[in-house]
Amino acid sequence: MDKNGSRILTDSHGLDLTGEVKKKKEFSGLPDSVILRALNESRDDVKEARALLRKYFGVFLTNRVLHKSGKKLDVHISSKKRDYEEFYGEIFSGIRDAKSIVDLGCGVNGFSYEFLPRGVSYVGVEAAGQLVDQMNIFFKDNDFDGRAICGDLFDLDLVRGILEKAKCPRVVFLFQVVDALENMERNFSLKLIGEIMKNCEVLVLSVPLVSLGGGKKFAVKRKWLMDFLVENYNVLRDFEMFGERILVVQKK
Ligand SMILES: C[S@@+](CC[C@H](N)C(=O)[O-])C[C@H]1O[C@@H](n2cnc3c(N)ncnc32)[C@H](O)[C@@H]1O
Repeated sequence: MDKNGSRILTDSHGLDLTGEVKKKKEFSGLPDSVILRALNESRDDVKEARALLRKYFGVFLTNRVLHKSGKKLDVHISSKKRDYEEFYGEIFSGIRDAKSIVDLGCGVNGFSYEFLPRGVSYVGVEAAGQLVDQMNIFFKDNDFDGRAICGDLFDLDLVRGILEKAKCPRVVFLFQVVDALENMERNFSLKLIGEIMKNCEVLVLSVPLVSLGGGKKFAVKRKWLMDFLVENYNVLRDFEMFGERILVVQKK
């Protein structure tokens, strides 16, 4: 254990493996729990763990996401394609009086704060620490009611704590995150959605419709996800926009 009570993984020579992975700057901002999971999967092979992390987080590990204007949003195909004014306009056309937004796996969405409903309090949770730091500078510079937290969505206690502290009515965003979570652990996204729904008024979830390669549409039905949502919750809206399928979900 380290002084914060976290588990330290060492090899047979006592080498701190998490620290070894973090020696490469691109991984230095990731939560330890994310690195430990990759080490677990790679059977403590540091190089292999780094390769897995690159596969899972890819472009989000870079800290070159900002224009000099401080507003570059096109770090990923999802944020590149969105006109945020229209995107949030459509989503919030059916949601009244949101007091807070908790954006899980937010990527660079915090930079779109000005297009959110006026006065709303925004918390983004993201594993890529470099993005978190840049968004926090952006919120401070612009005096926005926003905050980004570097955290791991697999830490359900952390997610619960953030949701419990958020002002009601709470809207949770889970945009284009389900695939990333499912790559790491099958069916984990259902566990996370179950946890979110205990502590939020509205969940807005999106999944991509467009292949990353050519932008050609393919039929991604995700029946398992739809079945789970329909069985357990009220799916208030189900629509497509900017190459995403967007679902608005509430408790039954
Ligand atoms: C495809 S991107 C979507 C980003 C943003 N939600 C959007 O729609 O533009 C997936 C995001 O989830 C983050 N992510 C993946 N696994 C995570 C985890 N276990 N904890 C926190 N964030 C995670 C990635 O770093 C990345 O920013």
